[in-house]
Amino acid sequence: MQKVITLNEFIIHQQSEFPEARGSFSCLLHHIGIAAKKVNREVNKAGLVDILGRVGCENIQGEEQQKLDVFANEAFMTELQASGECCGVASEENEDATIFNEGLCRNAKYIVCMDPLDGSSNIDVNVSVGTIFSIYRRKSPIGTPAILEDFLQKGSEMVAAGYIMYGSSTMLVYTVGRGVYGFTLDPSLGEFCLSHPDMKMSATGKIYSINEGNYEKFPVGIKQYIKYCQVKDEQTNRPYTSRYIGSLVADFHRNLLKGGVFMYPPTDSHPTGKLRLLYECNPMSFIAEQAGGQAFGQDGRILDIEPRSIHQRVPFYVGSYDMVAKVMEFLHKAE
Ligand code: AHG
Ligand code: MN
Ligand code: MN
Repeated sequence: MQKVITLNEFIIHQQSEFPEARGSFSCLLHHIGIAAKKVNREVNKAGLVDILGRVGCENIQGEEQQKLDVFANEAFMTELQASGECCGVASEENEDATIFNEGLCRNAKYIVCMDPLDGSSNIDVNVSVGTIFSIYRRKSPIGTPAILEDFLQKGSEMVAAGYIMYGSSTMLVYTVGRGVYGFTLDPSLGEFCLSHPDMKMSATGKIYSINEGNYEKFPVGIKQYIKYCQVKDEQTNRPYTSRYIGSLVADFHRNLLKGGVFMYPPTDSHPTGKLRLLYECNPMSFIAEQAGGQAFGQDGRILDIEPRSIHQRVPFYVGSYDMVAKVMEFLHKAE
């Protein structure tokens, strides 16, 4: 029988490659894994119990919160605090960063940015949703409460990023800057098991993902790129295929495995783009780059953007290296 490598075994093995590591980072990841299993359990039984539907309140961005949004936020907050290795969390669901200032957490060196439940609009129809997280070293001194500057770091400072996809099977994919590794939850073992070692995104692919309902308000370069995707050309394998789920995690994951490009440009309702830099674009960009792809905003590499606020939104173009390069070529030409 083939030996499976569990997430925890893998984390400990990876830790041994960093001789100075004392296990705090491994502990943090371990607790993220536990929170993921809790959310997975709730997502799976969502149709069976009264967890579907709305809580009846809005988050600070005026969006109606779903029960699972609230549950996922609490599950991750609880586990991050319980780890004792995290001194603060910026979450999509909370206006301000949450500072853990008690006990072990005060002396912790990491902060986390997260989207506890990504793709909320897909919950009620049993389509894949996800969680996105990123981990940074704090800037403020250990032993003091975390401050805003700890969260407003450039993506290039990230220590680790990952996502969990609650799909037809549940997967956890993450990077610590040494390649991308994917783990599939084996429900019989209750463990994430290594299933996708050293994931790579092909340089090009056939899939373009964008909400074309917003076409009228797209920048000219994006309109032209969409046309380019649709025009027949045997040499470049066009026309491409259009695929859009509406859960960033699921759209990104498919493109990571198959090759493709995901785009969320500025639109009428979201003139600076819809997706959030800290807990959606940055982590996905780190993973994309580690898998051989790339990620750009309006003016350059996503990971080089200096964040100004926790819930900042940016235009987002991410995926296979050559396809993202083509998108940027169209955008620049149209300028
Ligand atoms: P969230 O559910 O965390 O608010 O994120 C939804 C995001 C993202 O998952 C997805 O790519 C995008 O919104 C879809 O937006 P549209 O419905 O505007 O296409
Ligand atoms: Mn999201
Ligand atoms: Mn969300």
